[in-house]
Amino acid sequence: TYVVTDNCIMCKYTDCVEVCPVDCFYEGENTLVIHPDECIDCGVCEPECPADAIRPDTEPDMEKWVEFNRKYSEQWPVITRKKDPLPTAEEMDGQADKLDKYFS
Ligand code: SF4
Ligand code: F3S
Repeated sequence: TYVVTDNCIMCKYTDCVEVCPVDCFYEGENTLVIHPDECIDCGVCEPECPADAIRPDTEPDMEKWVEFNRKYSEQWPVITRKKDPLPTAEEMDGQADKLDKYFS
């Protein structure tokens, strides 16, 4: 599966949702997640993210992100259409410790 990681937080550009063939992105207040059981591993979303927040779970230390994506994809509504990024997107792109400091 692919997963959304912390640089999406407070950016939420949403370019990713338009290209997903199985509509498996889910939307929270300030980030998106991918449902790991619905993702078909096509990889087309990864290069679409301006914040480089989407990663394959084959990279090291992704277990925590798979669990994060699974947990919230079961609680949040699906998103299939691009919308405006959050107003904080540019200034927050690349900030450290976004999960601890800014996730809500
Ligand atoms: Fe959707 Fe493909 Fe990205 Fe998985 S890898 S979330 S199926 S676009
Ligand atoms: Fe987030 Fe990147 Fe999609 S910032 S909303 S994963 S395009």
